[in-house]
Amino acid sequence: MLKTLKERRSIRKYAEKPIEKEKIENLLKAALLAPSSKKSQPWEFIVIDDKEILSELSRSKEKGAGFVKGAPAAILVMADPEKSDVWIEDTSIAATLIQLQAHSMGLGSCWIQVRNRKCNEELTAEQFIKNLLSIPDKICVEAFITVGYPDESKRPYEEEELNWNVVFSNQYGIKK
Ligand SMILES: Cc1cc2nc3c(=O)[nH]c(=O)nc-3n(C[C@H](O)[C@H](O)[C@H](O)COP(=O)(O)O)c2cc1C
Repeated sequence: MLKTLKERRSIRKYAEKPIEKEKIENLLKAALLAPSSKKSQPWEFIVIDDKEILSELSRSKEKGAGFVKGAPAAILVMADPEKSDVWIEDTSIAATLIQLQAHSMGLGSCWIQVRNRKCNEELTAEQFIKNLLSIPDKICVEAFITVGYPDESKRPYEEEELNWNVVFSNQYGIKK
């Protein structure tokens, strides 16, 4: 597992190669296997592989989503907040598992934040996406995860880079 965690990097450049149907299904399996508070499973997902919609999605944020138009697919991660008061945590775990499952199958991925982000001065990224994908008002959008075969390589993290300063022993501020 640590090897996977060191190797997983945000990939923003993707090859033209389409993703096999089975691999997309496995990404969804990983998400649906995620733990959630009180097993509330408040999440919902939209798999997006339509080029025009991906291109529109790349305009959903002021910055940080431009590369999405070059991705072969993205998975939108949403939740019904009535099902869980900690839906942000629940969806974040599901999204993280999608990223790890992607890596384990040779796919690159990147998290694109939607919640608390703007599309422009008048519109939130969430509202832009809700309008684009006909998402009901009561559903909240956390993020989307782009996936595809990588067309860039990033080096894995090294043990030496880990910031142990944030880890304490028994009491805050106390180092072993
Ligand atoms: C909550 C969260 C929000 C993020 N939002 C974006 C985003 O909107 N656009 C983007 O390109 N990357 C986004 N990222 C990816 C981070 O920039 C990336 O994880 C970080 O720079 C560390 O790089 P690494 O993933 O290669 O380890 C986000 C990651 C997380 C966990």
